[in-house]
Amino acid sequence: MINLLVLKETVDSEKRVALVPDEIKKYLELGFKITIEKDAGIKSGFLDEDYRKLNANISQNVEKSIKESDIIIKIQKPDPRIIKEMKTGTILMGLLSPKKNSSENTFYNKKKISAFALENIPRITRAQDKDVLSSQSNLSGYKAVLDAAYEYSKSFPMMMTAAGTVTPAKVLVLGAGVAGLQAIATAKRLGAVVSAYDVRLAAKEEVESLGAKFIVFDEEVLKKSQTGGGYAKEMSADYKKKQEKALEEAIPENDIIICTALIPNKPAPKLISKKIIEKMKTESIIIDLAVETGGNAELSEVDKIIKHKGVKIIGYSNYPSRIPGDSSTLFSKNVFNFVKILIDNESKKIKINLEDEIIAKTLISHQGKSMNL
Ligand code: NAI
Repeated sequence: MINLLVLKETVDSEKRVALVPDEIKKYLELGFKITIEKDAGIKSGFLDEDYRKLNANISQNVEKSIKESDIIIKIQKPDPRIIKEMKTGTILMGLLSPKKNSSENTFYNKKKISAFALENIPRITRAQDKDVLSSQSNLSGYKAVLDAAYEYSKSFPMMMTAAGTVTPAKVLVLGAGVAGLQAIATAKRLGAVVSAYDVRLAAKEEVESLGAKFIVFDEEVLKKSQTGGGYAKEMSADYKKKQEKALEEAIPENDIIICTALIPNKPAPKLISKKIIEKMKTESIIIDLAVETGGNAELSEVDKIIKHKGVKIIGYSNYPSRIPGDSSTLFSKNVFNFVKILIDNESKKIKINLEDEIIAKTLISHQGKSMNL
């Protein structure tokens, strides 16, 4: 029997849980024993009783449960106090924020823990059902638009009333990846007039298929701006100048700007300077989903709402945690699909097959050695 433990998140602002009750049955069918740390699901709306009813155990002594576990799952990386309790060879998975020479990695190596950083899952077709970044970004894009609608002093849809006509909100989405596309779809559903900008020309078709307008600056440059992995490259200084000029015109024409532009392992591209913010209409809203990596807007600050010359710049961190019920559900499904590939079909035991690209690229520590850092 494989013992799987779900730990409670220790960071106050993290409201998600790595396993929701609905996923338990699938693990039990694979022969797992499931243990949940007491109150692990409470912030995302799942009570201990909901887990217990579906034959999971609620741990009353978490140190003991950690020592007995073969697989430990969490949303965010555990603190060293928890890693110390793990037995040699435990599998750990979650959003482990892989970093070279981190103190956690030293602990993983010492204890020969097989640590899987789920944010490293490669973006290949076979990995789509395990891709936590996509499932969480999708919900972030949705929630960002709802936050904007909540903060905005006017309406999103056009309304024709006896008293007169209310004009629709104009929404511009910067970055049309997973979060951006969902933001576009949500803003459209709310009745806004939506446009979007991205440096990957491949995004143009996706934006247009959602009925939004794509802003193109230099089609020839954009054709070459995507990496093999589907991510954006950092743009040249010359292109950035053109980009700034075009955004200086486009941004002030809009009421709501949803910022989702990211470049993997680099600071977020700066797309909205203070000068542009000062040209925006009063009561405009900027939601900066890129705030944790420096922000797309010059004035955004982590977990703050800044008001500058009538413009609200919102920098909430950890967006998926703002919609914890569904983000936990999708995260749990991704994790189960990942765990499945660690189980040998015949023996039903754990087998870490380093020839599987998904496994090999996601490991950050295995058998005492750091990997993929
Ligand atoms: P991301 O979160 O790294 O970046 C968000 C968006 O920002 C990207 O679309 C990027 O092109 C854009 N961006 C970067 N610099 C910019 C700038 N200066 N101005 C405007 N936009 C800028 O990317 P995300 O959303 O995680 O995925 C990007 C793409 O990866 C997807 O659209 C898709 O093509 C591919 N993908 C493939 C998957 C698979 O095959 N399993 C799964 C998920 C995504």
